[in-house]
Amino acid sequence: MKSLLYRSIARSDLKPEVVFEIIEHSSRANGAKGLTGFLLFHEGRFLQLLEGPADRLDDLFDTMKADTRHHDVEVLFEGKVARPSFPNWRMRRVATKDSGAALDTLMHAQDYPLPRAILAKVVAFLDHDTTSRDRAGVS
Ligand SMILES: Cc1cc2nc3c(=O)[nH]c(=O)nc-3n(C[C@H](O)[C@H](O)[C@H](O)COP(=O)(O)O)c2cc1C
Repeated sequence: MKSLLYRSIARSDLKPEVVFEIIEHSSRANGAKGLTGFLLFHEGRFLQLLEGPADRLDDLFDTMKADTRHHDVEVLFEGKVARPSFPNWRMRRVATKDSGAALDTLMHAQDYPLPRAILAKVVAFLDHDTTSRDRAGVS
């Protein structure tokens, strides 16, 4: 069983409904492959956790890296895990308008605790947006 967390930058003209299309496709396709996880889309960036059998996960990730709807794919965590943290989420969009609520959703949905390294990266992803907005002086 493998877990992979990455972030990427959405294509600049990506419409919000495309995220829903990706989720719809993914939850169907992932269900057939035994893959689970979540997808955060925030301020033009994606953060996705994929978990499941390593061979299927790696195949999918190869396809995804070539998807032109995002770029600058950067792996943040990759490793073996005993069990998936979200065995019932074939691919779930987690709303990130409120980062506290997003974290709350993730913490409550777990069947098995998220590795700490992953949790730290999720928090950093959500925090980064606040600080970069603050720095830019955008309210
Ligand atoms: C940010 C992002 C996340 C994606 N996540 C998944 C996923 O979890 N599962 C999936 O099957 N496709 C996902 N895709 C879509 C794949 O890149 C690809 O379009 C799809 O797997 C092709 O499916 P097909 O071979 O059935 O046409 C994602 C695409 C993007 C841009």
